[in-house]
Amino acid sequence: MAATANRTPVDLNHLHPLKERNQYDPCIVVIFGGAGDLSHRKLIPALYNLSLDGELPDKFAILGFSMEDLDDEKYRAFALSGIEQFSRRKVEKEHWAKFAPMLHFNRGSFTEAADYQNLRRRCEAIDAERGTEGNRAYYFAIPPAFIDTCSEGLTAAGLIHPHEKGHPFTRVVVEKPIGSDLASASEINAELARHFDEGQIFRIDHYLGKETVENLMVLRFANAIFEPIWTARFVDHVQITVAEAEGVGTRAAYYDHAGALRDMVQSHLLQTLCMIATEPPNTTGAESMRDAKLDVLRALRPLGDEDIEKRVVRGQYGEGLIGGAAVKAYRSEEHVAPDSQIETFVALRCWIDNWRWAGVPFYLRTGKRLPKRSSEIAIYFNSVPRILYNANPRAPLAPNMLTIRIQPDEGLALHIMSKVPGSATKLQQVKVDFHYVTSTPEAYETLLNDVIVGDQTLFMRRDTVEEAWKFVQPILDAWEQSPMDPPIYAAGSWGPLEAALMIAADGRTWRTL
Ligand code: BG6
Repeated sequence: MAATANRTPVDLNHLHPLKERNQYDPCIVVIFGGAGDLSHRKLIPALYNLSLDGELPDKFAILGFSMEDLDDEKYRAFALSGIEQFSRRKVEKEHWAKFAPMLHFNRGSFTEAADYQNLRRRCEAIDAERGTEGNRAYYFAIPPAFIDTCSEGLTAAGLIHPHEKGHPFTRVVVEKPIGSDLASASEINAELARHFDEGQIFRIDHYLGKETVENLMVLRFANAIFEPIWTARFVDHVQITVAEAEGVGTRAAYYDHAGALRDMVQSHLLQTLCMIATEPPNTTGAESMRDAKLDVLRALRPLGDEDIEKRVVRGQYGEGLIGGAAVKAYRSEEHVAPDSQIETFVALRCWIDNWRWAGVPFYLRTGKRLPKRSSEIAIYFNSVPRILYNANPRAPLAPNMLTIRIQPDEGLALHIMSKVPGSATKLQQVKVDFHYVTSTPEAYETLLNDVIVGDQTLFMRRDTVEEAWKFVQPILDAWEQSPMDPPIYAAGSWGPLEAALMIAADGRTWRTL
């Protein structure tokens, strides 16, 4: 019997509205680094899609701020080319005519006080023209080294309002990486706190904006059937995989200092882990949700030297084949040191020392140049007792499993045993499979919308960022103390052999995606 695929369509219009999305205050989104890659690929296309969905304030403007030699006209052309190449929906001529006038550009240097004065005047002119009432969201699409300088510049030019009723709102959006270790992250957070109230700071981890990651809370707490079995009593172990087929691309200048542990594990994988493992929050309010996630990070068992040696595996991609095409080794990529020891793959085992999860290992793995782009959470439930249908020791039944596909093909599947129709009693694993049939919003759409409405639920609070760094810091320290060439895995493979051996030592295997 073939596995059944139950394609259940989702009617997005009938979703129970937890957040009211139609209360928008007017505002200007000022993008620092507005002519950069992030704006081009993600931010402007996301704002365009929000506009298509009517999810922007009526009185709204976007103002790019950076050193490029652009004016409004040229910035609009830059935006259009970004939307044409990267938007999930095509450019609609009629809509573009409405969207284009929202886009403005103000040329300036992040280090020149006079340029911030110009910026202030430009914002005031836009307020007058578009009715944006002094509300600002500053999006820092800039390297972390500029965060302090830009905050300072805004403060000096009187561009930051107090976080109090009766004042226009000021919000600031900060991209990852927040620091490169615990000390630098604390420093960046302290710099931000000198200028902004925590209630004004939106630290982005775009994985939290992904539809299926956000849906984890709904899955767990809007259904009666999952939560009772979401514990050590029923769960054998959990695997989180974030696999990328892409290599380092053009980002080696950053990545060859960061590596996969800082780039992916400290942020995306740990945040996803929090969403799976959190206790039910008291409310759906931002602080309850964020408190609950923080508790997970606080309950992570610190990794000791032995864990790091035996249960944290790193690797670096060598040359190989991706989709049949030959690709270079990491060390041969542009701007990568030829003897680089930076890891492009990490797999690790961790434990959450609380009542719910005691004894349940969580296995995390991520890497570049793996066979395909595929991110997934797999929750493996305990095996049924070794009696009845599971009595044959030579053919143990596959355990039930719930897989949550973050991307691509977002959805979830419950893997269960079923009888093969016929007179013989033969069993086979089948999938009850749920796919979204409409395209889901990009993470940046969800997150930018939240910034505009002022909802911090999906953003990382200062304490959460630092707690996540506390977990990875011992690994960074250990690797720094004993530098080594990471094991090389062929591009297009599932990582170094060591990763398979690490999980095999517990009698388990990685799920094949
Ligand atoms: C970014 C990392 O945060 O996430 C990149 O810096 C990585 O290295 C990217 O490629 C993956 O995001 P996504 O949404 O493509 O899975």
